[in-house]
Amino acid sequence: MSRPRCARPCAPWADGVAEPLEPEYGGERLVTSSADDVERAAEAALRPKKLDEFVGQRVVRDQLSLVLQAALARDASPDHVLLSGPPGLGKTTLAMIIAAELGTSLRVTSGPAIQHAGDLAAVLSSLEEGEVLFIDEIHRLARPAEELLYVAMEDFRVDVVVGKGAGASAIPLALPPFTVVGATTRSGLLPAPLRDRFGFTGHLDFYDAHELERVITRSAGLLGVAIQHAAAHEIAGRSRGTPRIANRLLRRVRDWAQVRGDGSLDLRAARAALEVYEVDPIGLDRLDRAVLDAVCRRFGGGPVGLGTLAMTVGEEPDTVETVAEPYLVREGLLGRTPRGRVATQAAWEHLGLEPPPGAWGAPLGGTLFDGSGAGGGDGGAPQ
Ligand SMILES: Nc1ncnc2c1ncn2[C@@H]1O[C@H](COP(=O)(O)OP(=O)(O)OP(=O)(O)O)[C@@H](O)[C@H]1O
Ligand SMILES: [Mg+2]
Repeated sequence: MSRPRCARPCAPWADGVAEPLEPEYGGERLVTSSADDVERAAEAALRPKKLDEFVGQRVVRDQLSLVLQAALARDASPDHVLLSGPPGLGKTTLAMIIAAELGTSLRVTSGPAIQHAGDLAAVLSSLEEGEVLFIDEIHRLARPAEELLYVAMEDFRVDVVVGKGAGASAIPLALPPFTVVGATTRSGLLPAPLRDRFGFTGHLDFYDAHELERVITRSAGLLGVAIQHAAAHEIAGRSRGTPRIANRLLRRVRDWAQVRGDGSLDLRAARAALEVYEVDPIGLDRLDRAVLDAVCRRFGGGPVGLGTLAMTVGEEPDTVETVAEPYLVREGLLGRTPRGRVATQAAWEHLGLEPPPGAWGAPLGGTLFDGSGAGGGDGGAPQ
């Protein structure tokens, strides 16, 4: 049973719920928004190369286009750019597009790759004029490297430290103008001095179904297969607002069409393939549904504590909290209260169940708490 998709955030308690990084979860999850190295290689072929091929994110695209055009007109490097947003929405893609639009090369590094300030100094001192330095996961830079980056971004200088202890001295080394593009899934973790050094910040948001349809149709073209509109629409609805997931589901549908169908990507192929992979009409997978099902059927809609819930679905609390919950909360299917997790009316509807009178998700069934500050409260469950 399906339900209309609601505008985000769907419920008051969706506000302020941080989307934590997903831990490794069996490595097989089709609807995860993160990607491993093999997938990143497959993605490379599908990346838009120019700003006008980049689907959606109209506001960020317009603003960025102005920044880039102005810099090109002045024949100067643009301001440093920070791109924030959940995984799989196009931050790396945009970083590559920025370099391409400027007609310059892109140097790529990441927060975790830079262990010491010296590593960053080496990267910075080898930059050539006008280059773009992409620092992925910039919130994970080590503190000494961060401080070196402040100076480099503001004054185009690195201080190379020579010697050790009391006799050490810093020799300033001037850098040519360059542009840092930082990407982060956790902009809240960036220290204010670093955030302030970016002249432009673009926040990427989840895509609507129409935009994902365009991503899917474009990707199908690049993969050399024709896709029917109804199939693209079906895949888009199950892609959790994320182009990376849309592209991944498209590849699975293509597999099904090749092996079990007649090769055409039509509605039948899309539905059958996604049923095989247990991705339901709103993009929930087996674990998501198990969590919802447990809250509704086993605990009468909740509240049920995280620990009890995790035990019921046979997972670690951490897995339930970081893998399943963010999307369920975002879609307004699950609420978090100080006494535990509660199913909303939409959850009951999605499972095709009638909430018992007085249940949390039942119409007029009491006031829903807005869940702020709710966390791992283990409120126990009604027997
Ligand atoms: N606006 C878009 N139009 C078309 N394809 C897109 C768009 N955004 C992302 N994609 C596709 O989605 C995939 C993931 O995008 P990308 O690697 O840029 O995400 P990301 O935000 O950098 O994710 P992460 O935080 O995991 O690094 C790529 O294959 C890319 O082609
Ligand atoms: Mg990326």
